[in-house]
Amino acid sequence: MSFRPKRPLRPITRISIFGLGYVGLCTAVCFAHKGFSVIGVDVDLRRIKAINEGKAPIYEPSLDELLRRSVGLKMLWCTDDYEYALRTSDVSFITVGTPSQRNGALTLKYAKAAAKNIGKSLRTNRSYHLVVIKSTVLPGTTENVIKPLIEEFSGKKCGSTYDVCFNPEFLRQGSAIEDVLNPDRIIIGEFTKKSGDFLECLYRECYGPRLPPVIRTRPSTAELIKCANNAFLAMKISFANTIANICERIADVDVVAVTKAIGLDARIGSLFLDAGLGYGGSCFPKDVRGLIYISEKLRYSPILLRAVEKVNSLQPHRIVEMARTLLGSLQGKRVAILGLAFKPNTDDVRDSASIRVAKEFLDKKAKVIVYDPMATKNARKLLENKVKYASSAIECIDGVDCCVIATEWPEFRALRRKDFLCCMRTPTLIDARRIYDPDEFGGKLKFWATGLAKGA
Ligand code: UGA
Repeated sequence: MSFRPKRPLRPITRISIFGLGYVGLCTAVCFAHKGFSVIGVDVDLRRIKAINEGKAPIYEPSLDELLRRSVGLKMLWCTDDYEYALRTSDVSFITVGTPSQRNGALTLKYAKAAAKNIGKSLRTNRSYHLVVIKSTVLPGTTENVIKPLIEEFSGKKCGSTYDVCFNPEFLRQGSAIEDVLNPDRIIIGEFTKKSGDFLECLYRECYGPRLPPVIRTRPSTAELIKCANNAFLAMKISFANTIANICERIADVDVVAVTKAIGLDARIGSLFLDAGLGYGGSCFPKDVRGLIYISEKLRYSPILLRAVEKVNSLQPHRIVEMARTLLGSLQGKRVAILGLAFKPNTDDVRDSASIRVAKEFLDKKAKVIVYDPMATKNARKLLENKVKYASSAIECIDGVDCCVIATEWPEFRALRRKDFLCCMRTPTLIDARRIYDPDEFGGKLKFWATGLAKGA
């Protein structure tokens, strides 16, 4: 169902955003950039101080510049005073983290805390207020957890002086600003028509004639859309990795040619078909696990999703196996890992496949040296002093027996065959992200890549 009101119901300009992580901060900065007055709320005082000084606490392309400008123009500022933030805004977005638990359920403690605080503040608030959940939650959460908490703490029913909507976010880390400024669709999960109209108006005000298609639906459907969207993309990646594993066993076959060709079929599409180390980050693994968890709770056995997860969990292991095939025992061998972030253009190492590769090489008693242009600081917290840290790609591969390309940072693409031949002790290169042309990387350099028949 898609509905477009003919004229704005009222001008909306004041937005509060609860939780200033990747999603919250990028959303805040983009709303401010679009001319809204934005107040950010977080419990981390150091984070608040940094943002108010115009310094981004995370790395994201263009974020620094937009943040500095928004803070300078006083379009964005942050506080830990949720009550003040709520009172001085018309709409509040909840963008706190919902990390995965061991059993696949999502941690709701931050979302619940935000809901309670918002509920308390709504108790005395007179004007209409819209609360929008943007954090990823499993189907039924807005209706059965968040809404009842806000009702309990405000002492008022949803649909009276306030409403609650679920509005998922589809931004990708590494291109978050670009994605928020140019969304391909907006999904609004609403309990009441008034609240959906209100939120659609806000987005109309934000994007003007470039407003993308707006899908209006129920909150639980919107919650499922978010998880299903990510699970489908994860499935494409696991499919590509399955084909890659088959390719590695057939002479003269390359997965890159296969996925390129099948991607041209409009029914398949070329995006998210890159075979490699598998998906990581704070979203795909969490959403696939979450969907498995909820399916099982509903007494449905999600065999496809379990297979997606299983294929993904084996990909890092496959790379270490490749090294074993090329080098024999890994004990005492020096291994360089280029790239630690779960993907390029981010400093995030959450659920990064590179970290799993590093740990598995350590388990095999290899000596590991790592390099990442942005994520070393975060990786140190996970790998501690068990590995050595290099300050450049060339330093990282100096004197090693094997190098694994684990994240496709642009600067690694610039490395040439001669760099590996000159620097490494026994030049053996495993391209787990398919950034090099196999035709250029043969000869004296032992080269193998995901989805490439061995010996190519
Ligand atoms: C993902 C979705 O793409 C966003 O739309 C969504 O908003 C976000 O999750 C979220 O739920 O908040 P993100 O996790 O930032 O975004 O990163 P992606 O670009 O989707 O990549 C995820 C992982 O898949 C990375 O580890 C990447 O290396 C891997 N990948 C991606 C592949 O292995 N092959 C591909 O072809 C594409």
